[in-house]
This record gives sequence, C-alpha cells and structure tokens, in this order.
Amino acid sequence: MARPLIAGNWKMNGSADSLTEISRLSAAFEERAPPCRVAICPPATLLVQAVERASGTMVEIGAQDCRAEASGAFTGDISAQMIADAGARLVILGHSERRTLHGETDEVVRGKVQGALRAGLEPIVCVGESIDERRAGRAVDVVRGQIRGSLPPELAGAAFSVAYEPVWAIGSGMTPTTAQIAEIHQAIREDLRELFGPAGDGPPILYGGSVKPDNAAQVLATAGVGGALVGGASLKAADFLKIIEAL
Ligand code: PGA
Repeated sequence: MARPLIAGNWKMNGSADSLTEISRLSAAFEERAPPCRVAICPPATLLVQAVERASGTMVEIGAQDCRAEASGAFTGDISAQMIADAGARLVILGHSERRTLHGETDEVVRGKVQGALRAGLEPIVCVGESIDERRAGRAVDVVRGQIRGSLPPELAGAAFSVAYEPVWAIGSGMTPTTAQIAEIHQAIREDLRELFGPAGDGPPILYGGSVKPDNAAQVLATAGVGGALVGGASLKAADFLKIIEAL
C-alpha cells in the first residue's frame, strides 16, 4: 500500500495570516519527520502562497476542487491545469459539500478526476452516505455506487486516494463506530481491486468526518484506514500535529 496520507481541508476558511500554520507544521517536521504524507488544501486564493511556504518542506499542497475542462468560458471556475500551474500537486474532488451544495453527480466528479489526471494532479476522491441512507441500511451500497460512478478507468496505476466521509459525520462532532468505518473501508478496497486489479491494493483509503486530536488514534488504528481527511481540526497546526502524531 502507498504511504498513509493525512490531508487538511481548510474549506472556505483562512486568510494570508493562516499561512503561518503551514510554517508551524513544516517547522515541526524539521525536528521530527511525520509518520505519513501530510497535505494542506487551502482555499484557491492562498494556493500560490501556500506552495511557496511549503516549498522544500514535508508539507504538500492541494486544492479543494477543479473543473474538468482545461480552459474556457467558465466564469469563476478553476481548472486542474491552473492548480498545477500554481504549484499544487493534489486536489480534493467530490467532497460532499460539492455534491450537495453544487449538485455534483458521480459523473461530474468522474470528469473532474479525469481532468486532474490530465494535469498531473493526484486526486483525493470523496464518497460517503447521508444519515438517511445509513438509517435505511444502505451505507455500503451508496458508497459502492459512488466509487463505481466517480472513479474513471484512467486511475489504474495512477497516484490517488479515496476519502470515506459520512455526510452526517462532517463538522458534526459525530463519528461512526470503528466497526462501521472498517466495514466501509473494506467494501471500498474490494471495489478498488475489482476496478483496478492488483493496483487497487495501492491507494490509501482515508477516513474523514470530525477527526479530532482526541479520536484520531482510534480512527487511524481502525482496520483499512490509510490516513485522514481533516476539516476543522486542520486549521490550527497544533491540533493538526496532534492528529498526525496519533498515527
Ligand atoms: P470535519 O470536516 O473534520 O470538520 O468534520 C471533514 C471534511 O469535510 O473533509
């Protein structure tokens, strides 16, 4: 399996002042190398400065979304090429906030993943069920459907990761049981093997949704978990470092 990845998703938070947090993270890693890959995904306005801050350090920089097309009349959108041009190397795609607030379907996400690969970016593809879907006993089926719908064949042999983020756990302080996390992660791994053969064993499967310093050790020790996608607790380097050190 590829190295675990712990990525921070700043969402629509942060200003130029927040770049200090990236410096704090990289300074901590100079004293002690992280036990995994570490990435920060700031808002697009901060990408160039974040890349400058992280240059030559153990911190990688990613974006939070991209458009599938390389360029064109898409006011307000940002292409994967533009993200690569800014120096970022990863991109979160299909986050539930994009799926619900911007109506992104699996098909849209799949196109974005293809666009990201064409630009040489490493996608972090998000999937996860709603609370109603879980209560109806459909969590595994929903996630498997999203995996099959969102992951294009071009991912075979490419560097990417999948983030399992139950919608009801994001920003809520609620987390699934370790048994629930393990069940979904196992289903995702089976799907990756079916889709990509032996290469499906490689991509890390992250867990995301209310990962905090106090639950990180338990979440990260769960069977099949290859890292985390962290929202709120990634905004401050001190909190994020505690999560990374819990691995
Ligand atoms: P949270 O967000 O850690 O604040 O719950 C996770 C995410 O949305 O990626």
